[in-house]
Amino acid sequence: MMLRLQEIGKSFNSIPALVNVTIELKPGEAHALLGENGAGKSTLIKIMSGLHQPSSGIMTFDDRPVVFDTPTDAVRCGISIVPQERNIVPEQSIAENVFMGRLPRRAGFVNYRRLNADAQQWLSMVGLHLDVRQDASVLSPGQGQLLEIARALSLESRILLLDEPTASIGEEEVNRLFELLSTLKAQGRALLFVSHKLDEVYRICDRITVIRDGHTVIEGGELSTVDRPTLIKAMVGRQFVESPFAERPAPGAVTLELRDVSTRCGHEAVNLSLREGEIVGLYGLVGAGRTELARSIVGLDRITGGTVLVNGYVARIPDPAVALQKYHLGYVSEDRKGEGLIVSDTIGRNASMTIWAGLAKPFGFLSRTRTWPAVLPSVERLKVRMTSPDQVISELSGGNQQKISVAKWLAAEADILLCDEPTVGIDIGAKDQMHRLIWDLAASGKTVLIISSDLREVVQLADRVLVMANNRICADLPNNGQYEGMSRQIMRVIVRS
Ligand SMILES: Nc1ncnc2c1ncn2[C@@H]1O[C@H](COP(=O)(O)OP(=O)(O)O)[C@@H](O)[C@H]1O
Ligand SMILES: [Mg+2]
Repeated sequence: MMLRLQEIGKSFNSIPALVNVTIELKPGEAHALLGENGAGKSTLIKIMSGLHQPSSGIMTFDDRPVVFDTPTDAVRCGISIVPQERNIVPEQSIAENVFMGRLPRRAGFVNYRRLNADAQQWLSMVGLHLDVRQDASVLSPGQGQLLEIARALSLESRILLLDEPTASIGEEEVNRLFELLSTLKAQGRALLFVSHKLDEVYRICDRITVIRDGHTVIEGGELSTVDRPTLIKAMVGRQFVESPFAERPAPGAVTLELRDVSTRCGHEAVNLSLREGEIVGLYGLVGAGRTELARSIVGLDRITGGTVLVNGYVARIPDPAVALQKYHLGYVSEDRKGEGLIVSDTIGRNASMTIWAGLAKPFGFLSRTRTWPAVLPSVERLKVRMTSPDQVISELSGGNQQKISVAKWLAAEADILLCDEPTVGIDIGAKDQMHRLIWDLAASGKTVLIISSDLREVVQLADRVLVMANNRICADLPNNGQYEGMSRQIMRVIVRS
């Protein structure tokens, strides 16, 4: 036996987040921790890693009671965490970020040669091949996630806690991570794994604990004895029925068109056209250039050639504010922490930000009585778990933060929406709601481009799928709605390109 948490309780401002939760991590086992957004998963993990202290209950390590006052205490017991939030200092080098707080020294000076060599080694293990002397600010969200994993691995801990480690990385990286995790398991280490993707859970995990509203619903049972419907029911507290989506009218006139567009990010001769009422998937592996293309369209990166047309007219889009105000073109960013949300501000202000105050001055005039009603419907539909609109964003669970940042864009007056990974990190119920929301937007005549690494999502929603690889659109495939067939077709395109 290794780490055991017994009847752990935790309250924030006397509101309970965890009630009597018991969980045990054993050597050589991967333990899945599941639950909806806000169920208490991250709180539990933070207690195990010394970031939070429990309000009640006992923690034992190898049968001896332990108290973790700080994360250092947990590290000393051989526990490391891949947190849900990125913890990266952008103005330090990538290598320094891997070894944050424990830089190798010689005679008092940082030994940069060793630092860089070691960092390079851990990073290539997770598939990140970059010059580690660069500032960490160059990292995309997915790469930042890989850095977090490399950092945790470099501690060579006996217990590894992974809080939604696969939320923002691509299929290839997930496969590599899972190979690593299998090796760690075989070495007798204990893993705790949080994910909303049940495929992943069944692939790697041996045991399962499900929490709902801070209470344990399934306590450490063998995963092979629990089937999917039982799991989902345990998480959401009801049978989950997938009702079909409503019919949608055929797509109308072209709204957004790119003609031979090239960008500073390396795209050349990109052509695409999107229609009114159409949902188009933009699929590709991480690093294919999808996010960069969307960012270039709304002016966050530079377009260097070719023409962008909105509703048939040439558009000049210097920044996202003009994109939204003049062309009714919105971009739901993939990097929601970095660009989307002001985590120290309230839900109400965040949710209304883009709509009325305009992107140029997010702190401009904001009267909640005027703005909140416009956002409320989408916040409600996505079932954001909060106490009031005045709650500060950083107090929300990660998944609920995601929902707010997407909700505000859905409520914005955009006719064309570029959605970058809109459902990353949100739970199964909310994901379904999000899909329906996007579907309804298209049904009401809006144009939606979905950038997603989740092929099932693309096949479920899109009318057609653009496949991107190496900054080029390599195929424009009609969607026949069959996941297996579509994935074979798409992979063939990517391999050939
Ligand atoms: N620092 C905090 N202050 C106040 N409430 C918090 C804080 N951290 C988490 N909570 C609350 O605890 C509950 C569980 O959150 P969390 O553990 O992040 O959920 P999960 O990881 O399962 O999505 C949520 O209702 C959240 O709002
Ligand atoms: Mg969480």
